[in-house]
Amino acid sequence: MSNVAVIGSQWGDEGKGKIVDVLSSQAEVVVRFQGGHNAGHTLVVDGVTYKLHLLPSGVVRQGKLSIIGNGVVVDPKALLTEIENIRSQGIDINPDNLMLAENATLIMPVHPALDIAMEEARGAKKIGTTGRGIGLAYEDKVARRGIRVCDLAHPEYLKERIENMLSYHNALLKGMGADEMKADDVYDYMMGMGDEILKYSGVAWKAIDDASKAGKKILFEGAQGHFLDVDHGTYPFVTSSNTVAAQAAAGAGVGAKKIGYVLGITKAYTTRVGSGPFPTELEDETGETLGRNGHEFGTSTGRKRRCGWFDAVLVRQAIKTGGIDGIALTKIDVLDGFDEIKVCVAYDLNGERIDYLPASTIDQANIKPIYETIKGWSGKTLGARSWADIPADAVKYVRYIEELIEAPVALLSTSPDRDDTILMQDPFNS
Ligand code: GDP
Ligand code: IMO
Ligand code: MG
Repeated sequence: MSNVAVIGSQWGDEGKGKIVDVLSSQAEVVVRFQGGHNAGHTLVVDGVTYKLHLLPSGVVRQGKLSIIGNGVVVDPKALLTEIENIRSQGIDINPDNLMLAENATLIMPVHPALDIAMEEARGAKKIGTTGRGIGLAYEDKVARRGIRVCDLAHPEYLKERIENMLSYHNALLKGMGADEMKADDVYDYMMGMGDEILKYSGVAWKAIDDASKAGKKILFEGAQGHFLDVDHGTYPFVTSSNTVAAQAAAGAGVGAKKIGYVLGITKAYTTRVGSGPFPTELEDETGETLGRNGHEFGTSTGRKRRCGWFDAVLVRQAIKTGGIDGIALTKIDVLDGFDEIKVCVAYDLNGERIDYLPASTIDQANIKPIYETIKGWSGKTLGARSWADIPADAVKYVRYIEELIEAPVALLSTSPDRDDTILMQDPFNS
């Protein structure tokens, strides 16, 4: 019996929320460990859709402890709004079932303001961030200018920290021709939410340790995906955190050995939101069809997602560099009805065949996918709940992917609904 870490193996939006929801039936604690409300995780339970950004996806089930770990950057306003929204859908959220790590870094009002201003300044070279201030908050954390949840309990110290932070950022704002921020205004704004936020504040690493000692299973919920990782992704078109499973240890406060089985959530094709290299992108009718069938619009920003064929080179690299033990293959139903399906098996870089994604941004933009074409399937995978219901040619597609990525498919997801999931290998018992 082990814990499980759920990680995106592509560019995010692989269906992590759905799979965390499915697996949370077995786990007592669900922990987010990086990212912030740039994430958008969708759950569909009994026909009701829940869109989560900061709240761990175990929150919709009764009797689970949801933890927002120290590695997450937390916008207090976004958190309180999300709690209200999810409550209004009939979900009970209170300090007994939600804990916010006291040492998590806060997103301050200056962060989204600068995120948006910097994106504008980048013009055509923009990253396509979510504009939520994620990158700026992580910058401040690493620069030791960050303000943490626990600081809300000490007003004088909070004021000092805000002044210190703004002495840096106001120079930037001024340089960009934007309005400077007043420390008093920011202080009043944060203090206005302080008590409400502090209700959820706790010693998260201890809660996880206690749960572990009691033999409870922990599910770590990643946000974004492997190729948005600040080290392993398509830098600089990435997010500002490590998204790999190893980050679950640092971002939750557990030892590396406690992470357990690493489940890479993997779409049966590929999507990306925002700018940056995307070797298998289809800017044609096939790409439009994938987007239409897969309802590929961002959960957080509503932006249209770019779509393309499955890239086995990318996913294999995520498996090797991220320590993924097995994958959950999602959205296979979106490929129902295609006569032919292409899979990228290698790249051509200036006439040379390579089997990995090079690090250089220039090379990433220049590589051309080398495809194998396989037959589509007649019949549907949509809504299938058992392996026996999967058309034989779709089974071949799954087996082919397993061979290319050198890892097993542990789960197969056939619709947005919680129940339309086929478990082939239980990650908690592998
Ligand atoms: P996440 O960020 O990885 O949690 O993924 P998102 O929730 O942003 O995007 C995945 C989208 O696909 C959501 O709308 C899900 O409801 C939906 N989804 C998840 N699994 C499946 C599946 O197997 N089939 C289909 N058709 N949709 C799915
Ligand atoms: P989930 O958890 C897809 C992308 C943004 C942009 C880049 C940097 O739902 O899979 P940021 O605001 O983080 O500084 O933006 O990362 N991005 C995501 N793309 N899914 C996500 O989260 C994402 N979170 C950030 O579009 O390209
Ligand atoms: Mg998403």
